[in-house]
Amino acid sequence: MPSAESGGHLFQVGMSASVSPLLPAMSNDSLLHFRWTRLSEDSVSDNSVWQTSSVLTNDDRQRAGEFTRPQDQVQVLASRILLRRTLSEVLGGEPSQWRFVRTEHGKPELDPAHRRRAFFNLTHTANFIAVAVSTVGAVGLDAEAENRSGDIVKIARRRFSPDEVLALEPLAEEKQRQHALLLWTLKESWLKALGCGLTGSLRSSRFRILQEPAEDFQEGLVEARLQGEQAARFLVGRPGGSWKASICCLCGNEVPLVLDAREVVNPACSDSFSKSFRAES
Ligand SMILES: CC(C)(COP(=O)(O)OP(=O)(O)OC[C@H]1O[C@@H](n2cnc3c(N)ncnc32)[C@H](O)[C@@H]1OP(=O)(O)O)[C@@H](O)C(=O)NCCC(=O)NCCS
Repeated sequence: MPSAESGGHLFQVGMSASVSPLLPAMSNDSLLHFRWTRLSEDSVSDNSVWQTSSVLTNDDRQRAGEFTRPQDQVQVLASRILLRRTLSEVLGGEPSQWRFVRTEHGKPELDPAHRRRAFFNLTHTANFIAVAVSTVGAVGLDAEAENRSGDIVKIARRRFSPDEVLALEPLAEEKQRQHALLLWTLKESWLKALGCGLTGSLRSSRFRILQEPAEDFQEGLVEARLQGEQAARFLVGRPGGSWKASICCLCGNEVPLVLDAREVVNPACSDSFSKSFRAES
């Protein structure tokens, strides 16, 4: 059961579901910052709301300009604002100062010239944007709308591991779809944490769903078997109750991971958090 804390919630994450007392102030070292926002129909159809933000750089606007549809441009602009603000929250300094480089598979990373150990990843789907920032280890983040069109179950049968497919088969149609979506977000978050994205194999990770995720993020809801020696932790949730999201952090179990998750009402304003919770494992 969550305990309320100034409009937010505090959860203990892990195999035990017990309530934790209010967490003492933690050093940034073990914090995993998750920020997400829902975009209104109005703001998605009009990119001028975002274009004018002083947080953005010319590179950001140029990147958005590579897309023709206003909604795609808004996804880029809004995600950059959210990312820049979150990085500054964690590392200090002005949001517009951050420079990025891309790896060979296109993963954006902080420019090494900043000389800061920080990892991030972002995801955007229609009307939903999220970023995860960590100083513990590389992160991968994926979110999918629960009403996503397309036959995810068909994709699962073709590309997931045989035992994952086997676990899907006895489920009723809608439950099967939701499980397949959750498996997809877990797999994509893993491949995004590694940095290879979908050039990597969806069979390099195998998951068993132990418990359905709730709106707030929890760890220990899935059992993961991963290719290679890489240690990884997965937190899954349903931000907003309509998306499935998975955060993968490449760090071992010996690191205490504290999730600081907040919904940002309007990324264009710096202090517009609504729902927030912290979770400890
Ligand atoms: C990463 C990937 C899975 C994202 O798919 P998607 O459906 O667009 O998913 P999301 O919305 O969740 O994520 C998009 C964000 O992931 C990040 N990203 C891009 N490539 C990434 C990678 N290889 N690893 C991790 N994150 C990546 C970016 O921030 C991107 O948003 P941006 O382009 O606005 O910066 C997919 O683009 C992919 O497989 N890319 C690798 C393909 C490749 O090798 N490309 C080489 C050309 S650069």
